[in-house]
Amino acid sequence: MQSELVVVANRLPVDRVTMSDGTSGWRKSPGGLVSALEPVLRRQDGVWVGWPGGTESGLEPFEDDGLHLVPVSLSAQEVEEFYEGFANATLWPLYHDVVAKPEFHREWWDSYQSINRRFAQRCAEVAAEGGTVWVQDYQLQLVPAMLRELRPDLRIGFYLHIPFPPSELFQQLPWRRQILEGLLGADLVGFQTPAAAQNFVRLVRQRVGHRTQRSQVHLPDGRTVHAAAYPISIDYAGFEELARSESVNQRAKEIRQMLGDPAKIFLGVDRLDYTKGIYARLRAYGELVREGEIDVEDSVFIQVAVPSREQVEQYRLLRDEIDRLVGRLNGDLGQIGRPAIAYLHSSYPREEMAAMYRAADVMVVTPYRDGMNLVAKEYVACRFEDDGALVLSEFAGAAEELRQAWLVNPYDLNGMKSAFLEAFRASPKERSRRMRAMRRQVSRNDVAAWAARFLTDLADVGAGRGHDLNGA
Ligand code: F6P
Repeated sequence: MQSELVVVANRLPVDRVTMSDGTSGWRKSPGGLVSALEPVLRRQDGVWVGWPGGTESGLEPFEDDGLHLVPVSLSAQEVEEFYEGFANATLWPLYHDVVAKPEFHREWWDSYQSINRRFAQRCAEVAAEGGTVWVQDYQLQLVPAMLRELRPDLRIGFYLHIPFPPSELFQQLPWRRQILEGLLGADLVGFQTPAAAQNFVRLVRQRVGHRTQRSQVHLPDGRTVHAAAYPISIDYAGFEELARSESVNQRAKEIRQMLGDPAKIFLGVDRLDYTKGIYARLRAYGELVREGEIDVEDSVFIQVAVPSREQVEQYRLLRDEIDRLVGRLNGDLGQIGRPAIAYLHSSYPREEMAAMYRAADVMVVTPYRDGMNLVAKEYVACRFEDDGALVLSEFAGAAEELRQAWLVNPYDLNGMKSAFLEAFRASPKERSRRMRAMRRQVSRNDVAAWAARFLTDLADVGAGRGHDLNGA
């Protein structure tokens, strides 16, 4: 099977899981990348190349719910060195402002190279002559150049879902030049924000020595690579439709009832990741309860923490810290049937998430650094009555578009407490003014528009119709 459009991401949209009866099955993969790209691929009828999770080998291409999926297997050692190691203990913290200390190990780098080559080879096999391959995210930054070598006929796009760091941080990476050269294999390199695109172009000029001109990099072989911002989004109409459904609204009512019908519900929804600022936000909320500004009799904070990268040490430490904090806050501040924090360490289907968004009066999204944060946009899409309040970190890519949120610096605990109170006490008129503007922004810039813009620009630059794209 050869396809005109190939999307390649570290993960397939479904994850191989072993059920309690010992049989194997598939479950939706965690994270924003999958939620964003799934509706795009469904519409375009392409194939998706990715790792199915786990260490099972020999899985054949298959169809799941109308999607054509091509698995790339990893051994246990490769999962450790490539995925948990180089991708998530080197690149992830480095690209997120060094919120945790990145580890640099040469064996992890070797593994990163060999796994990127495996992904590139798989793409080369399944892409049709002259087709388009869209490479996703930091786990696969060497794929564009490796693939171009194997298949110079292809149009290659790369999109980075996470932040791209300023040169002061990126330069720490012992393999900085190879990563930049890997990305330069693409015709178009897309980022979440114009600042990220500018960081990339500047680094290419400084470190690789290519001539650059705004959003363009001119290579010695005559090729031009374009770098620009394409802020990712969500299936706005799909979320709104779900939010309007009878079953979701019924479920939202049930959730409120089960919590004792509090006057106000705060909500946080994140992968359990140290970049998300979960600890600081719960601490800020706890202080407000302790100080009597918020009463557990009429408020609760629901924190959904989706299990993530549980074999990586920093993630285990974080889980213990959050468990301890929630235990302490509930022990000190909660009452019978009235916890201060309702903490859920689990992942939920879209319907249940929509019901939580419907139930929540104040949505709290406070990462220290985040490429975009689609949870903030999902919340906005679900508030079709123009109510609800969003507290959003200035350091999430989403803050560039959702200017009417209560914007906070997550390092500033007092600032965060004030914003919680302002959002909590804002008049219905104020909330609706802000929500209406944010809904307009997200509805006009949904994920279909994002993909169409990227793929149209890729077709243009691939065909030599290179104009100066936005963002750098
Ligand atoms: O969006 C960032 C991202 O790392 C994706 O690349 C990834 O699929 C998602 O978050 C979830 O992380 P993981 O695949 O490591 O579970």
